[in-house]
Amino acid sequence: MGEAMVQGLLRKKLLNNRSITVGEPREERRRELEEKHGINVTAKNSEAAKACKILVLSVKPQDLDAVLAGLKGLLKPDQMVMSIVAGARISAISRGLGHSAIVRVMPNTPAQIGEGISVWTATPSLTEDQLSQARTVLQALGKEIYMNDEKFLDMATAVSGTGPTYVFLVMEAMVDAAVHLGFPRHVAYELVTETMRGSIMYAMKSGKHPAELRNMVTSPGGTSAAALYQLEKGSLRTVLSKAIWAAYERSKSLGEGKSPSVEKNNDAGA
Ligand SMILES: NC(=O)c1ccc[n+]([C@@H]2O[C@H](COP(=O)([O-])OP(=O)(O)OC[C@H]3O[C@@H](n4cnc5c(N)ncnc54)[C@H](OP(=O)(O)O)[C@@H]3O)[C@@H](O)[C@H]2O)c1
Repeated sequence: MGEAMVQGLLRKKLLNNRSITVGEPREERRRELEEKHGINVTAKNSEAAKACKILVLSVKPQDLDAVLAGLKGLLKPDQMVMSIVAGARISAISRGLGHSAIVRVMPNTPAQIGEGISVWTATPSLTEDQLSQARTVLQALGKEIYMNDEKFLDMATAVSGTGPTYVFLVMEAMVDAAVHLGFPRHVAYELVTETMRGSIMYAMKSGKHPAELRNMVTSPGGTSAAALYQLEKGSLRTVLSKAIWAAYERSKSLGEGKSPSVEKNNDAGA
């Protein structure tokens, strides 16, 4: 995700390569990043943090505490920290760094191709200029939406952060069903992906409510009506709603530092 941000910033010419420094512990990966993007690399996060305007935290949640400890007390008040670490609360990052200028972001995987959507929030000490810089960095990943309360980050984790997973599962199920009907897999894949892409673009361009678009193609006794009957009978809406609620609850509990096993058997949303 950090590399996607670097790529987006360079692709959109928002920064030049030598104004980006990546702190990365593995030598092989440092070399790869330097060769591929022409950016500065260092094994010491403290070195990357020293002179930067914006410090992006993009490590796995389990590595965060050690990274914060290594940077504690090093940042000046006018440096902005941007964290994309899932579940990491602003209060925990602020405590860990001894720093108060923090932006917390929930991106999603389409950011890898600059088509992501990020939801973000910021601490009150940030200036208008810093907020605008944060927005610009996030636009390297795709679209961005600012929310004025951190509570929306757990909700965004469940909807847009985890969202591609739901879409990929539906995509996979539709491709398998098309193969079951008799289509070769590559044809099934193209039919499904183009149908998804076209339907989304149509919905967005028409501005119509999804139910209206659906009703427009549901003729009495027709194929859509037959399929919709089965989707409703299988509780598709309820299952999706429960899945999103479960992801929301899990995001909240990870933020509180609870291990996943605590809630393993809960039927969230029930
Ligand atoms: N992927 C997503 O869709 C997504 C969505 C929303 C949020 N996020 C969040 O984004 C963060 C990064 O996720 P990711 O999928 O990009 O993970 P990732 O590919 O594992 O990237 C993490 C990077 O951190 C590096 N790293 C490990 N320890 C470090 C240290 N002590 N100092 C500096 N760098 C260190 C790793 O280096 P090595 O390669 O050498 O191990 C790796 O390059 C996570 O917190 C995740 O929750 C991801």
